[in-house]
Amino acid sequence: MYIGIDLGTSGVKVVLVDGAQHVLASETVALKVSRPHEGWSEQNPDDWLAATLAAIDALAKAYPSEVSQVTGIGLSGQQHGAVLLDGGGKVLRPCILWNDTRAEAECAIFEHRFPESRAVTGNIAMPGFTAPKLIWVAEHEKDIFAKTRLVLLPKAWLRFAMTGEAIEDMSDASGTLWLDVGQRRWSEEALSATGLSLSHMPELREGSEAAGVLKPDLVQRWGMRKAPVFAGSAGDNAAGAVGLGATKPGDAFLSLGTSGVVWVTTDSYRGGARDAIHAFCHAVPGVWHQMGVTLSAAASLAWWSRVTGMKEAELLAELPVSPEAPSPVLFAPYLSGERTPHNDGAVRGGFALLSQDTTRAQMTQAVLEGVAFSFRDALEGLRASGSEVKEAAVIGGGSRSALWVAILASVLGIPLHRLANGETGGAFGAARLARLAVTGEDVETVCLSPERAETITPNEALRHAYEAAYAGYRTLYPGLAAVKTVLAKK
Ligand code: XUL
Repeated sequence: MYIGIDLGTSGVKVVLVDGAQHVLASETVALKVSRPHEGWSEQNPDDWLAATLAAIDALAKAYPSEVSQVTGIGLSGQQHGAVLLDGGGKVLRPCILWNDTRAEAECAIFEHRFPESRAVTGNIAMPGFTAPKLIWVAEHEKDIFAKTRLVLLPKAWLRFAMTGEAIEDMSDASGTLWLDVGQRRWSEEALSATGLSLSHMPELREGSEAAGVLKPDLVQRWGMRKAPVFAGSAGDNAAGAVGLGATKPGDAFLSLGTSGVVWVTTDSYRGGARDAIHAFCHAVPGVWHQMGVTLSAAASLAWWSRVTGMKEAELLAELPVSPEAPSPVLFAPYLSGERTPHNDGAVRGGFALLSQDTTRAQMTQAVLEGVAFSFRDALEGLRASGSEVKEAAVIGGGSRSALWVAILASVLGIPLHRLANGETGGAFGAARLARLAVTGEDVETVCLSPERAETITPNEALRHAYEAAYAGYRTLYPGLAAVKTVLAKK
C-alpha cells in the first residue's frame, strides 16, 4: 500500500494506492495563497503540513487497515518555491512561490554573475525560479538571508517536516537554477552567483530512490505497522508524467492545472532555452524533459470566477457543450506575468475587442481560449526547440471540462486524450515513485499509461477559425508589454 501526496498551490491532495495500482481513496484539503503586494505570492509552510496531516488523518480514519499497511510515501510538489531555514531548522519567512514575480530584476543580476547559466542550468533565469528569489531576499531582507542555512523547495520541506531529512530530487532541483541539469548535480558556480554554497543545499536523489523514513510519532498517529520509506519524489509536472507513464522519450502531455504545461520527455539533456522552454531532469534516472509553462491556466478561470462572483461550473454552464466558433473577444492570460514564450514577469493580462454586445459568456469563452492560445505558444516553442508534439494526454483540474479540452484540441491542432483518473495525476505519480523506491522494480513495469476515457480530435472548421484568432492573440503581448513599460516610466 502506498501514499501519494500532491502539495499543490490550491490544495494538498493525498491518495491511497494499492499493490494493483488502484486509487482506493483520496482526500484534498484546500490551501490559500497570500498576495501581500502586487506580483507577490506566498504560502506558509506550516499550512502545508497541517493540510497534509489533516488529509492523512481522514484517510487513516476511513481506511485504518489499509493505511496501517502503507510501506511507501511519495511526494509531488509545486515547484520553484523558496523555503528558508535557519541553523535550527526553523522557517525564516513565508515561502515565495513559483508564480511570484518580484524577482524580475534579480534574474539579470544572476545571469550577469553566472554567464554560463543558461547552458549549465538548461533555463533562462525567470522570476519564478528559486535562485533570483534568494538574490531578492539578500537585497531586501538582509537579516533573513544572513540567518539562512538551508534552502528547500516546498515538497522537500514537507519531507523535512515528516522525516527530519533534507533531500531533494533531480526533477524539482532542476527548477532552482542551481542544478547542473545535464550532469544531475548541484552547480557550485550557480550557488555562488546567489551568495550560497553547497552547504545550503539538501542532498540529491533520483525521484525513484529511497529518501527518508516517516518520523515515529507520525507512524504511531496513523497506526502504521512499519515506518514507510519516502521516495526521492518529484516536482508536480514530473510526478504527473510518472502517473501518466510519460517516462519514455517522445511521450508528451498537457497539464491544465493552476499553471499550464506542455511536456515532452527527452532521451538527453536538451538545454538551449529557446522561447523560454525549460529543460529539466525527469524524476526517473537517465531521462530528461522539455516543457513550456504558462503561468495562469486554470488560475485564469478561477480569477474570472472571483471577478464575476459566479462558480466556475456556473460560468461554464453558460457556454455550449462544444465550441461552435471562437469568441469575438480575446483574452491574454498574463495575470501573473508569463514564462513561455515571453519570459516577462511584469506584463499583465487583458481582454480585447470588447463591445456593447459583449456578454459574460463570450468573456468566459475568451478566458478558456486565451489559455489555449498560451498553450499553443508553448507548443510552438517546443516545435522550434526540436520537440514535435503529435498527440497528448491532458491532466489537471481544467481537464474535467470537456469544452476546454475541445477548444485546446482545435487550437493546438492535435488529438488530446482525457483520462479516466486524470485528476489524480501528480499524487498518483508520487505513489508510483513510492512503490519504485520500496520495491526497486523497473520503471517501465510500474509506469504504465492509464486508460483513456476519450480522445478529442480537432474540429477542422474550428481549427481554421482558431488560426485567425491565434494570429490576433499574438498581437496582444507587444501592446500589453508596452502599456506596462510606458506606465512604469510615469
Ligand atoms: C513549473 C511551474 C508550475 C508549478 C505549479 O515550472 O512553475 O507548473 O510547478 O505547481
